Amino acid sequence: MRTIDWISGHIRLIDQTALPATVTVLDIHAVEELVDAIKRLAVRGAPALGVAGAMGVALAVRNLPAERARETIATLRAARPTAVNLALGVDVALAAFERGGADAALDAALRVRDDDIAACRAMARRGTDLLDRLLPGRSRLRVLTICNTGALASVEHGTALGVIEKLHSDDRLDRAVVCETRPLLQGARLTAWELRQMGAPYDLIVDSAAPITIIRGGIDAVLVGADRIAANGDTANKIGTLGLALAAARASVPFLVVAPETTVDLRTPSGEAIEIEDRGGAEVCTFHGVQTAPDGTTARNPAFDVTPADLITAIVTDQRTIDLSDNETPAHRPLPAQHAG
Ligand code: MRU
Repeated sequence: MRTIDWISGHIRLIDQTALPATVTVLDIHAVEELVDAIKRLAVRGAPALGVAGAMGVALAVRNLPAERARETIATLRAARPTAVNLALGVDVALAAFERGGADAALDAALRVRDDDIAACRAMARRGTDLLDRLLPGRSRLRVLTICNTGALASVEHGTALGVIEKLHSDDRLDRAVVCETRPLLQGARLTAWELRQMGAPYDLIVDSAAPITIIRGGIDAVLVGADRIAANGDTANKIGTLGLALAAARASVPFLVVAPETTVDLRTPSGEAIEIEDRGGAEVCTFHGVQTAPDGTTARNPAFDVTPADLITAIVTDQRTIDLSDNETPAHRPLPAQHAG
């Protein structure tokens, strides 16, 4: 089943808050329900948010008068600030609506969905090719990842986890090491669930075990996704990613960002300009609904961090491999001719 899809005039998505206990489906008929699903991470991950944004516009313009639709669409666009794909998905479908009406908005949303499916396939191929080049002669790989960058973060296959899935299906995955990803456990709940579905070998670690795991030589490559990639290559991703990059640099382990071209935001010059979502202290002071800190504790809960470009070996998109270790940047390395301009 696809993570998110358009079925009989509405959005159907897997409720990721219910995993790994149950696979529960949400049928979304109104943008307000979609905004709620996005805010509580029932649907999450940059590419899936892009599809949700575009389909949300299609839903709004079908069901609401134009003025009311534009208001709810503005709320949808702002539901989460860090992943550029949400705003981009909204903008693409809204522009199609302004040009061609509700049917055009839906066509655009379905294209965002289909493009994501194709992009993930391309990233899996490109990512495994790059690993071959960076780690010649290494037939089976131990890779480390954080958060969830799999099918659940996209539509059918993932970005960084899509590369890991391909390694596994090519019988080249020695082991995946998965950071649990506090506070909401996307690694433990979602990535471990996906790897188990695939029958892939994996170990789960607490986030703070990652640096020593990398530095003691237990990892051949770190693969992560991205929520926004700035023009200079600085990359926002799930909180904890920066620590992985620092450890990988110290251990000379390749650190790869795998994300679709739609996550590259050339209007953002560098990581400093990326807004980091703060999700509030409640998620930090509780664990699975149980209070874990004294009453009155104040907590910080940045959901993302920014890894500077100089700690990233390469960014793999569906269209290119940007070799940051060779001073390429997203802004300066042109797209292949058919995509330029
Ligand atoms: O808060 P989340 O779960 O939406 O954060 C998701 C991530 O940080 C992912 O790594 C990123 O969106 C890439 S998903 C292919």
